[in-house]
Amino acid sequence: CGIMGYIGKNESLPVIIDGLSKLEYRGYDSAGVAFYKDGEIKIIKKKGRLADLKQAIEQMPESGIGIGHTRWATHGVPSDTNAHPHTDCNERIAVVHNGIIENYAQLRKDLILEGHDFVSETDTEVIVHLIEKYYDNNSLEEAVRKALKHMHGSFAIGVISKDEPDKIIAAKKDSPLIVGIGKGENYIASDIPAILGRTNQVYIMEDNEFAVVTADKVEFTDFEGKPVEKEIFQVTWDPVAAEKGGYEHFMLKEIHEQPEALRQTLRGKIRDGKVDLGDLGIKPSRIGKIYIVACGTAYHAGVVGKLVIEKLARIPVETDIASEFRYRDILWQSDDLMIVISQSGETADTLAALREAKRQGIKVLAVTNVVGSSVAREADKVIYTHAGPEIAVASTKAYSTQLLIMYLLALYLAQERKTLTTEEIEIITSELMKIDEKVEEVLKQEEKIKKLAEKYQKVESTFFLGRSFDYAVAMEGALKLKEISYIHAEAYAAGELKHGPLALISEGVPVLALITQDNLVEKSMSNIKEVKARGAVVVAICKSNLQEACQECDEQILLPEVQSLLTPILSVVPLQIFAYYMAVFKGADVDKPRNLAKSVTVE
Ligand code: G6P
Repeated sequence: CGIMGYIGKNESLPVIIDGLSKLEYRGYDSAGVAFYKDGEIKIIKKKGRLADLKQAIEQMPESGIGIGHTRWATHGVPSDTNAHPHTDCNERIAVVHNGIIENYAQLRKDLILEGHDFVSETDTEVIVHLIEKYYDNNSLEEAVRKALKHMHGSFAIGVISKDEPDKIIAAKKDSPLIVGIGKGENYIASDIPAILGRTNQVYIMEDNEFAVVTADKVEFTDFEGKPVEKEIFQVTWDPVAAEKGGYEHFMLKEIHEQPEALRQTLRGKIRDGKVDLGDLGIKPSRIGKIYIVACGTAYHAGVVGKLVIEKLARIPVETDIASEFRYRDILWQSDDLMIVISQSGETADTLAALREAKRQGIKVLAVTNVVGSSVAREADKVIYTHAGPEIAVASTKAYSTQLLIMYLLALYLAQERKTLTTEEIEIITSELMKIDEKVEEVLKQEEKIKKLAEKYQKVESTFFLGRSFDYAVAMEGALKLKEISYIHAEAYAAGELKHGPLALISEGVPVLALITQDNLVEKSMSNIKEVKARGAVVVAICKSNLQEACQECDEQILLPEVQSLLTPILSVVPLQIFAYYMAVFKGADVDKPRNLAKSVTVE
């Protein structure tokens, strides 16, 4: 979601709406503004794009203070009511929020018992009611501080009140927020592009910081009220680069957003070493067979899903491409479960497969990134990947968060079916809690991978090899490369190579070999010898403990140590970066590859 707030000598609304237009990359399913006028807080909000909100505001009202929001739903479908800003029972306060309040269900229950009326399905609404509850002695600051004490999760918030219309309160934890400094006017925003062109003087708020923003002053404290000294950051970016966070393309930005996306997806799903996914609509002990159905990159996440669910939860799983699944004669059993995976939640073939399962009376669990999407609405149960909007056509952060959900699901099923011990589950969950940091470590090798791409940019054909989990990732690596760089890329199960494709290996053909499975390293190395003997150059993506075994490879990209089972979340990252730079060196349109679309709504 994107937040923008303004206070000062000019009209707030045009500034806020202009700022939100630069933040639409952060979310675009609904938008809204709250402003102070004639002693009241007024709110206008609309489902849809910012353009729909603009239409709803017939005449720009005069107001020197306001907050605005462009939403990417996390709790509650996109709708006028669920759009931000939210207000309290007496319409005294307005709040915009980016993030997820993990304990919102409990807070909501308690607040309802205390007499608060809720109108939306959002987690955000609890924030405004909490502030209302503590807003007794006319200090908005104090009320917000007290409310913060009860909020678990991630948040960047902007708050205004009709009783103190000379200030915006801002607070941040685990979601971004900045304060822009003007002359006789100040801003709050989720990100720099929103205010660029108005000021280049910015304070970047850190976690657990609190700001009181008036027209000519900004005071920073911690949540307790202790003053915090901050330094001004001088922005030197141009507006186009700023929207992409300084990156040249959305794809590269989204590759780098993966650690944060993984953190958001994981939020609230592991408690005391146990996985909590809520009610799946079907008893884990009763599931006979699982069908995972998806397209493209989501299908590749499903291939990992099959391996990990079978391994941990001991349930038979079939993974299929949606457009093929539809034409099979499935031997449905009433205890089957279908899992559909779809970033957009709108892919026509995936949706058709879901509908077929429902027609057969089969329960469907959806894994999607878009709240309120068709898949989310029609499935019996949804688990969201909270990856945030993905703009580049080639999927990156949606894939890694889909993988994370596959692991969580497998662990949850294993836990409920008791196919793993509590200790075994704890070992894996504790690794998952640190996986974001390990992805960060892999990202540090960007320069090295870029150099490899520079070296191989002229090749016409490439091969991606792996066994088991590595084969699943090889498929995704090959897809990334072909879709954005237009270089022929083929993924093969390493052991299958000698049954045909080996004939295609000739002098200088790059082979990207994934070697991350402790128990398969020797077998994989034999396959590497086979391709090297035919002149291939081998780039190994290997786990650091297997480095020695991989020494015969021409190049090595090392991954931090992690259980073999969990390597896909790490090993895909170098392949994404490699594909990205291959496309850049070829001068291709990285974010919008030819002939492809982000969401395919035709069969
Ligand atoms: C298109 C996109 C891919 C995506 C696939 C499935 O082909 O270009 O990036 O993986 O559709 O999309 P979904 O939204 O269902 O995950």
